[in-house]
Order: sequence, then C-alpha cells, then structure tokens
Amino acid sequence: MSELIKLHNVSLKAAEMVEEGRVHKALYSDPDIFEQELDRVFNNTWVFIGHESEVPEAGSYKTAWVGRQPVILSRDRKMNLHVLQNRCRHRGATVCEGRKGKTKSFTCPYHGWGYALDGELRALPKPEEYDGVIDKSELPLMRLRHESYRGMVFATFREDIQPLEDFLGGAKKWIDLFMKQGGGYPVKVLGEHRFNFPGNWKIQLENTTDAYHFPIIHKSFVSSLDDATADIFDFLNGDGFVEDLGNGHSVMVMIPELVDLEADLEQPIPARFSELAAALREEGRSEEEVKRLVRAAHGTGFNLNLFPNVSCSMAFFRVLRPVSVSETEIQHVALGGEGAPVAFNRKRMRLHEHFQGPMGFGTPDDGEAWERVQKGSLAGTDGWILVNRGMGRLRQSADGNVAGAVCSETGMRGAYRQYKKMMAAAEE
Ligand code: FES
Ligand SMILES: [Fe+2]
Repeated sequence: MSELIKLHNVSLKAAEMVEEGRVHKALYSDPDIFEQELDRVFNNTWVFIGHESEVPEAGSYKTAWVGRQPVILSRDRKMNLHVLQNRCRHRGATVCEGRKGKTKSFTCPYHGWGYALDGELRALPKPEEYDGVIDKSELPLMRLRHESYRGMVFATFREDIQPLEDFLGGAKKWIDLFMKQGGGYPVKVLGEHRFNFPGNWKIQLENTTDAYHFPIIHKSFVSSLDDATADIFDFLNGDGFVEDLGNGHSVMVMIPELVDLEADLEQPIPARFSELAAALREEGRSEEEVKRLVRAAHGTGFNLNLFPNVSCSMAFFRVLRPVSVSETEIQHVALGGEGAPVAFNRKRMRLHEHFQGPMGFGTPDDGEAWERVQKGSLAGTDGWILVNRGMGRLRQSADGNVAGAVCSETGMRGAYRQYKKMMAAAEE
C-alpha cells in the first residue's frame, strides 16, 4: 500500500491518539470517535447551556444543547430555573423550537400534549382514552441536573459527578474576574449570533487558547486598529501567559494590565473610547463612573477556556456545539451590563461586531483557518498534529499551576489531558 494512503492508525483507541504534545488527526475525522465523544465527554460532564440573564423573567426560556441533545432552559413562575430535555413524552417530538422568548407552557405541535415551565405534563387532548393507561405525573419532560456559577448555567445528565464548583476549581477565580466587565453592573447577554463551520469541535476547543495565530491570521483586524490599540494587541512580545487550571480548563492571559478591570482606574482614556467617555459625561455620569465604565468596556485581557464547550473570551462567550465529526456550531454571545448606560452597551456591541461579527475583521479569518485544518486532516502521511509548543519552557504559576508563555500550547495540552482521561475511563 502506498505511504500516501496510510492515514489513520485505526488500531489505536481514541485515548491512545492523545499524547503529551501531539494528537492524532483521526480525532478530527473519524465518525466512530465522534460518537464516542458524545457519550464519554458531552453526556458525561458539566456542559454550559446559557447565562441566567437570557431567562430574566418568569416564563422566559431559551433552547440549548448538551452535546447533540436538545434541551430547554426555563424559568418557572416561582423564578426557579429548570433544564428540560426538549422531547415530548408521547412520541418524541421537540416541544419548543424558538431560540428564546416567553411562554406560559410548552405545547407539543404534533398531538398537543402541554407541559408546564417546570416540565410537568399538564394537559392532553381527549384524555379519556388514557384512563387507566398513563399517569400524567409520571410523564414530565425529563429534567437534567443543573447548577450555576456567577450566572453561568451548566447542565449534566450525570447525577453522580462532582458539584459544578468543584469541577470549575481554579477557573472560578477567573470567572469572577471576567464578570467585572459589567462596569459595576451585573453582566448580561446583549445578543448572539451563530454560524457553523465545516470542521471538528476540537479545532475550536484549541483555538481560544491559541495566541500563536493572532498576529498572523488576524492581520486585517490589527490593521483596522488605531496605533495605540494595535500596540495593546501586540501581546506575543508581552508578559502574557497560559495557565493550566485543571479538569481541562485553562486561561490565556494576553493583556495582563486588563486582567482586573476594577484596578488601575486612573489610566488615561484611550482614543477609541473618547466618544464613549463624552457620551457618558453628557449623561451626567460622574468622572469616577466614566473611568470605571471605560475600563470595563475593553473586556478582560484573557480568554478563559472551560472544558468542553465554552470560552469566556475577552468580552464575550464563545460556545461550541458538536454537530457531526466535521461540523460545529459556534455561538458568539455579546455581553454588556444590566442597567448600564445605553452608550456603554452600544459601545460593547460595536466592539463585538468589529472582531466577532459576521462582517467583522476577526472571526471570518479564523473560520477560514479552521476549515483548512479539517481539510488538511484528510491529507498527508504524517498522522499527528502538534500541540507541543512551549513544552520545554514550563514554569509554575503564582497559584501553583503549570504555566507557559502566552503563545505556548499549554492550554490545549490541558484540554486534551482531560479529553484523554474521559475517553480512556470509559474504555477500561
Ligand atoms: S409527539 Fe408530542 S403530543 Fe404526540
Ligand atoms: Fe482567532
């Protein structure tokens, strides 16, 4: 057989395809491995499904996914949150197709079974035919276990895994910092947009902890900035770092001076925020509040990557959903402040659009690279993808974690270590 078609070492199990410093490219393209990942990773851990501000009132809901399974996040009349499997207990249709909104109940469109916001089956047409056949109280929409941290809601099918806060561990400190970008107001979701790219979900998992690509693929973004902002984004030569936080989580600090948005409030106001500052002053905001809001408007100087499906990325959430072995949906969720001045939230949206938006200067270039990685995974005789950058120059962080330079692949290795652990545990 030609060397050119010995592509996959199919005798390797998925967990054996992950070594410290390299992963086998079959992990991006093998449909059997993808099916195993849904069971062993996504159905087996805490998965981010949304932010509490997306369901602000009694009757609010949003639809989401745990791996490939559709779920609903709802808030009942007593303001309690529920995560429900989006599957009618009659013959299985989804009961809600809206992305988000308000409702009094979920009515299945097929035969009209009606469920309350907490999932209870309340009513169905021609109930007499079910006399002695079913007990409605035994047929609610299936409920998933869910827990929140700082407004971030996670769900899991597993009743027996560790509490969410234990799973987040060292990442909690960074979530706390991330939530300071409301500028003194609670962080809230301003809006979102979604797109699919023709590539495996792990290409995305890697990307938000990959500073190495920034000055190369994001040249158009950098060239769209004023000089002072371009300097801030020239972080590969700065003091940034990547820290492995355990359980697959990592933080990549690109701009250390923007880690704590409540510190250093006396910084001069950069040119790109002068209009915002003027608008806030015009509204009669105090100078102290103007400074606080302007500093928060930057977003944090880090990407916090929470295994397996969400990144708190500078000023937004990037949520991934595995669709198939070679297709992934990305949600970009723009964040602002609940009750914050309109000018502040408007500026946050404009900054979001500038990089992440469909017509933005950043994400479209990322998308091109991700698609190429997937294409490339089908080519070549060398079956391994390198994630070994910086392995020879590791150090210990102030919190006692393994850390490397900002452009090291330390975060990817942390994510793959957790992936390997989960894939291997089920193989034993
Ligand atoms: S499938 Fe839902 S009512 Fe029949
Ligand atoms: Fe990028």
